[in-house]
Amino acid sequence: MTPLDYEFLRKMLKERSGLDLSSDKQYLVESRLIPLARRVGLSGIPDLVAKLKGGPDPLTSEVVEAMTTNETFFFRDKIPFDHLRESVLPALAQARAARRSLRIWCAASSTGQEPYSIAMSVKEFAALAGWRVEIVATDLSQAVLEKARAGLFTQFEVQRGLPIQKLVQHFTQVGELWQLNADIRAMVQHRQLNLLQDFSHLGTFDVIFCRNVLIYFDQDTKAGIFERLSKMLEPDGVLALGAAESVVGITDAFKPYPERRGLYRPNAMRGLRGGVSAMTMMPLRAVAAATR
Ligand SMILES: C[S@@+](CC[C@H](N)C(=O)[O-])C[C@H]1O[C@@H](n2cnc3c(N)ncnc32)[C@H](O)[C@@H]1O
Repeated sequence: MTPLDYEFLRKMLKERSGLDLSSDKQYLVESRLIPLARRVGLSGIPDLVAKLKGGPDPLTSEVVEAMTTNETFFFRDKIPFDHLRESVLPALAQARAARRSLRIWCAASSTGQEPYSIAMSVKEFAALAGWRVEIVATDLSQAVLEKARAGLFTQFEVQRGLPIQKLVQHFTQVGELWQLNADIRAMVQHRQLNLLQDFSHLGTFDVIFCRNVLIYFDQDTKAGIFERLSKMLEPDGVLALGAAESVVGITDAFKPYPERRGLYRPNAMRGLRGGVSAMTMMPLRAVAAATR
């Protein structure tokens, strides 16, 4: 691949998916795109780039999808799901008792292990029985969404992170595969969505899982997405990020939950600070008490 071809692909991928490739990732691009080029009858990357430069082509989405990393597994990192079960769902069960409904968004849901881990957690939380719980799972890639919708997983996939009692309780063996039971599958709606584009039409959520995707984006892209996510989360809602992700140094739209690693809440003080100083002499201590 020539340096010019690499620059073309780097720029296109950043614009289309947010993927921020450093200048030394040619091997990664080649390992993902040479097989794709051959599959569609092209001789290699120079031909592929020439075709992409020729104008809008369905191949563009295939290239973008081929460059996404879809690594995921059930109950990944465990801790966010412990928090979900032990503190987030109990708090929301109390706070939403009058309306008996919850909305949860799993952004960048890949092949479904994450939204289905959330669905199993909700299903097993007795206080939410009979509630309307919407779980919206979104991803850029149509291919992973298709696999997620089928809810079919290999032996290897169910062995990664899924406790055996949940396998027995929520899955049925289909030949060599395991299928999630229909009740859990029905709890999750899968939709295609690019986080770079407007997502305000999804409405507001009580919980947002946005894990292990922002890590591929540059700081400005992350900051912009955090800003837009903060507008989609209820004031007492929870944002869960991946183990290697944080808002620190990127945005003040969210604050970490003390002692709940990986969980963040909307920063209520952020909106108030300007208003308070412009408007009144009210001490910040009193504002903090009022919003606690
Ligand atoms: C590494 S997986 C993480 C899956 C899951 N959240 C987890 O933590 O196990 C990253 C996912 O982000 C998706 N993705 C990448 N860029 C995206 C974008 N701009 N908008 C939405 N999803 C994107 C990929 O298709 C992939 O499925």
